[in-house]
Amino acid sequence: MCGIIGCVGTDETVSTLMDGLSNLEYRGYDSAGVAVQNGSGIKTFKRAGNVSEVRDALPDDPPSGTVGIGHTRWSTHGPPTDQNAHPHTDPEGRVAVVHNGVIENYDKLRSQLEATGNQFVSDTDTEVIPHLIAHYLDGGLEPETAFRRALERLEGSYAVAAIIEEEETILSARHGTPLVVGIDDGAFFLASDVPAFLERTSDVVYLEDGEIARVDPDGFSMMDIKGDPIESEIEHIEWDAKETGKGSYDHYMLKEIDTQPTALRQTIEGRIDPETGSVSLDGLEAGAFEDYDQVDFVACGTSYHAALYGSKLLQDAGVEATAYRASEYGASSNLVDDSTLAIPVTQSGETADTLSAMAEAAEAGATTVAVTNVMGSTAARRADETVFIRAGPEIGVAATKTFSSQVVTLLLLARRLAEDIDGTEPRDDFDEVLAALERLPDDLQYVLESSDARSVAHDYVDSEAYLFIGRHLGFPVAKEGALKFKEITYEHAESFTSGRLKHGPLALVTPSTPIFAIATGEERSKTLTNATEAKSRGAPIVLVTDDEETGAELADKRLTVPETHELLEGLLANVQLQLVSYYAANRLDREIDKPRNLAKSVTVE
Ligand code: M6R
Repeated sequence: MCGIIGCVGTDETVSTLMDGLSNLEYRGYDSAGVAVQNGSGIKTFKRAGNVSEVRDALPDDPPSGTVGIGHTRWSTHGPPTDQNAHPHTDPEGRVAVVHNGVIENYDKLRSQLEATGNQFVSDTDTEVIPHLIAHYLDGGLEPETAFRRALERLEGSYAVAAIIEEEETILSARHGTPLVVGIDDGAFFLASDVPAFLERTSDVVYLEDGEIARVDPDGFSMMDIKGDPIESEIEHIEWDAKETGKGSYDHYMLKEIDTQPTALRQTIEGRIDPETGSVSLDGLEAGAFEDYDQVDFVACGTSYHAALYGSKLLQDAGVEATAYRASEYGASSNLVDDSTLAIPVTQSGETADTLSAMAEAAEAGATTVAVTNVMGSTAARRADETVFIRAGPEIGVAATKTFSSQVVTLLLLARRLAEDIDGTEPRDDFDEVLAALERLPDDLQYVLESSDARSVAHDYVDSEAYLFIGRHLGFPVAKEGALKFKEITYEHAESFTSGRLKHGPLALVTPSTPIFAIATGEERSKTLTNATEAKSRGAPIVLVTDDEETGAELADKRLTVPETHELLEGLLANVQLQLVSYYAANRLDREIDKPRNLAKSVTVE
């Protein structure tokens, strides 16, 4: 939610900031803006609209200078207007600030500042920050001290960056939302996430909560809120900048769907001993899990669906496992103690609901193992252990390749847990699972090359609603199919366990409600029966299955996946549904990579 960037020491400050904002746009695209310090004051340019619209609207002589900050917004306080766009300034324009997070006590701070004559021009919570910094500057404090004093007044979450008139410095701080420093030859960056500056450098320092980074043309330094210096460690990011570009694709989403075979090879590489079939995961020793008897997955959105798939893989291996929607975890009557393994599953590693559930579990004594895609993310830094899904950067707001890599990672994790936890019965056909895993990237490639998803999507694109059904491992796939469809087409899509249809949802069924039935795995015959019941009421049936015969009479359309181990068929079926959503959204001319009202990284609860 919201992306922030800052840079010093680059040649073209505004265009560097705008390029960085384009790379951060997955975090929000309601408005964008930049502020530049050029020795004769701070120049600000900001607008409602996405980054490219704002870039097009830049004046012919954009603000020049060597120090600047920028922001792309996902609105929380106040609608997406020019006025509410960041950067925000104090009334005299001496301080400019960009912010990601929520200032919970902004109302109180605003009233106090208004009582001293300050006038506010936006509806945002952020605007109190430059006012506070200016207030302390007026009180005679040095810029850095004024910045720290302002931070002391804030409650809530923030990654914040500020520039101050006549200072060739960016002051920034992290409390609850991510911030990373990028270090290049003679240039320094600050951003919410590495893709903002990955084209320039992959040497980074991640800030922890409570840390402040000061960046100027001579270097950077870190301190705590009292101003005491902090040692920092430079890390090298392995991601390739090319991976964060669209290449020849029209949309990141299609690129990310198409590159799943590569992502899966990365996910699997080096994790299975070809001799013994045993699984090693990011340094987790054999026996690491022997003390646990319950696994709680906590996750949101697509990651929740992967966790649901994973929980069924664990149950199948005899491990007691439940997938919780992270935002409901605290309200669930689950018993958590030191025999609980809590597994937050989160692509970004920054989802506030998931981080909060992880903290609740840890508080109750659980050990936490984050399953994430992003090195240096908050989940990775806070969890006791981390397993990376290694999907490579995912930019499209709709998660695609990370679902597949999460499912495979959880399959491997299920094996490790089943081996470690007493009383479980690891599958005796695991050699077949491993063989299927090895074939998986090729099987997925086959789906991509042979899929009829485009014609299915076009045939049904004018329907009233879209229903997705499945059982067992087909159910998380049905849920994910419906989420993807509604997220990028804006059409009404729902999912049900196949057996649930007849208990109410059948009332929705008409000839204009195509049903996508996931008929994979051992449970397929019951799903076929349930789909037949819907067809009798007029619904067209799109069958996602692994052979040409299954449901021959029933299917109006068919999306076929290669035969493979039943644990992996759902993953392949999901790829067919990703493609259906993509082609339907494309036909409807939707903003596929930036669906309305959404952002990729949801850092508010
Ligand atoms: O980064 P996370 O995996 O924690 O994100 C969780 C959800 O916000 C995310 O999966 C969301 O549902 C996607 N946009 C779905 O495509």
